[in-house]
Amino acid sequence: MDKVYIFDTTLRDGEQSPGATMNIDEKLEIARQLARLNVDIIEAGFPIASPGDFEAVNLIAREVGTEDGPVIAGLARANKKDIDRAWEAVRDAAKPRIHTFLATSDIHLKHKLRITREQCVAQVKEMVSYAKSLCDDVEFSPEDAGRSDPEFLYVVLEEAIKAGATTINIPDTVGYTTPWEFGALIKGIIENVPGAKDVVVSVHCHNDLGLATANTLAGLMAGARQAEVTVNGIGERAGNTALEEVVMALYTRREFFDLYTDIDTTQIMRASRMLTAFTGMHVQPNKAIVGANAFAHEAGIHQDGVLKNPLTYEIMRPETIGLGSNELVLGKHSGRHAFRKRLEELGYTDLSDDEINQAFDRFKRLADKKKVVTDEDIEAIIADELYQPREVWKLEHVQIVSGTGTRPTATVVLTGPDGKTYTDADIGTGPVDAIYRAINRVVGVPNVLTEFAVKAVTEGIDAVGEVTIRVQPTNGKSVNGKINPQTGVERKRTFSGHGASTDILVASAKAYMSALNKLLNYRSR
Ligand code: KIV
Ligand code: ZN
Repeated sequence: MDKVYIFDTTLRDGEQSPGATMNIDEKLEIARQLARLNVDIIEAGFPIASPGDFEAVNLIAREVGTEDGPVIAGLARANKKDIDRAWEAVRDAAKPRIHTFLATSDIHLKHKLRITREQCVAQVKEMVSYAKSLCDDVEFSPEDAGRSDPEFLYVVLEEAIKAGATTINIPDTVGYTTPWEFGALIKGIIENVPGAKDVVVSVHCHNDLGLATANTLAGLMAGARQAEVTVNGIGERAGNTALEEVVMALYTRREFFDLYTDIDTTQIMRASRMLTAFTGMHVQPNKAIVGANAFAHEAGIHQDGVLKNPLTYEIMRPETIGLGSNELVLGKHSGRHAFRKRLEELGYTDLSDDEINQAFDRFKRLADKKKVVTDEDIEAIIADELYQPREVWKLEHVQIVSGTGTRPTATVVLTGPDGKTYTDADIGTGPVDAIYRAINRVVGVPNVLTEFAVKAVTEGIDAVGEVTIRVQPTNGKSVNGKINPQTGVERKRTFSGHGASTDILVASAKAYMSALNKLLNYRSR
C-alpha cells in the first residue's frame, strides 16, 4: 500500500471562508489538534496577510512544528516579499515548507494577473528558485489548474520542478472539474511532466459542484500522493475537500484504494467539534462522517438491524472517528474517575488536572438539572469551559424579565479588567436584545451582531442549548481584516462567540461575552 500525505489547510484556505476567522490562541489549539490527528503537513496561514497571521504561523511553527511533529507550511504568492515573509514565519519549525503559487489558466493570466504565458513561466522559475534558496521543502501550485491548458501546465510544472519544487500541487481552484477530468489531468501530469515521478504530486479541490472529495480520490487513484484538505470541509465559497471524508474513504475502502494515511481517526470528532466551537460554523446534520445524523438510525427497521448486527447498516463504527458509543451514560452519581474515562474515550487524552476539574464541576452542576448527561453534553461543556478566550470582562450575573405585556428587561453584573463589579440594566425588543444592550452599556464596544444561532445539543426539554453569534466592530479601529491571497480583497474581521447552558438566555449572554472578549483580546494584542 502507498501512503497518502495529508496536508491540512484548515488554518489557511479554511480560514479564508467568510466568518471562519480564528484568533491566535484558537489557531494554536487547532494546530495542536491537527498534530494529534497526525496530519503530515499543516498549512498554518498566509503570513503576509496581516501581522496577526504572521504571528500565528510563527507561533505554530515554534510550538507544533517539532522534530516529530508535522511539516509547517506558509503560503506565499509568487513574489519575493510574500516568500520572505512566509520563510520568516515558518523557519523556526523543525520541518518548514514554503508553498508558493501563481495562476496558470488563461482566464486568470489575462484578467487577474495581466501577464502572458511566457511571463508566467519566467515568474515561476524565478520565484520557485528564490524560495528554494531559503528552504529545502518548496511546494508550487498553479492556481486554477483545473481550467488551465494541460500542455501549458506541463511546461510550468516542469520549470517548477527544475527550479527545486519538491511537491507540485494541482488545485481545482473553482471546483469546476469532474472526477473523470481531474483524474485524467493528474495522470497526464505524471506521464508528461519530466521529473513529476520524483516529486510528490498533490491534489487540492474545491467543492463548488459538491465534487471535491470525489475529485480528490480520483486524483489519488491517478497517482497523486498528497491530499489537501480541511476539517469539516470549510473553505472559500462551498469549501475545500473535507479531511474526514478522504481519510475515512481511504480507511473504509482500503482494499479498493490500496492506499493508507497515518491519521489517527479517533481524533476526527474532537477536531470537528473544536473547529465548530471556534468558528461558530456548524456542520450540517447530514454531513458525511461528522454530521449529527451520520451515525443515527432513525427508521425502526434500521435500528432493528443495527441492534442485531451493526454491519447491517453501518459501514464504519462510531468509535473509529472518536464518537462515543453512548454505552456508559453519566448521571449525577458518576464520579470524577468515570468522567475522566469518558473524556479519554472521546479523544480528550491530554487535558490537565485543572481542566478536568473545571469540566467536572460543570458536569456536576448539569447533572443536577438533567437526569442523563450524554457525550454531546460533555462536548458542549468542554467547548464552553475550555475553548473560551481570556476574560477581559466576566459575566457574573444576568437576570431577565420577559413575557406578554412587559418590556423585556435585563440586568447584568460584570467584573471589569480593573477587578471592580459593574451593574447595569436596559430594555430591548426581546430578551436577548435587552441582555446585549445592558452588556453594551457596561463594556462600551460599538459593534453589530451579524449572526445569532441557537441549537439544542440533545433531544428533550431539559437539553443544553448552544448559542453561537458573530459580531463586527463598528468604530473602525479593528475593522480591518486581512487580504485574501487569491483575490487580493480585504475581508472585514468578525468575532464569533459561543455559550452553552440549559437556559438559552444565559447561553446568549455567555456567547456575547465570549465574542466581546475575543474582540478586546485582539485589540490589546
Ligand atoms: O484553491 C487554490 O488554488 C489555492 C491555492 C493557493 C493553492 O488555495
Ligand atoms: Zn484553495
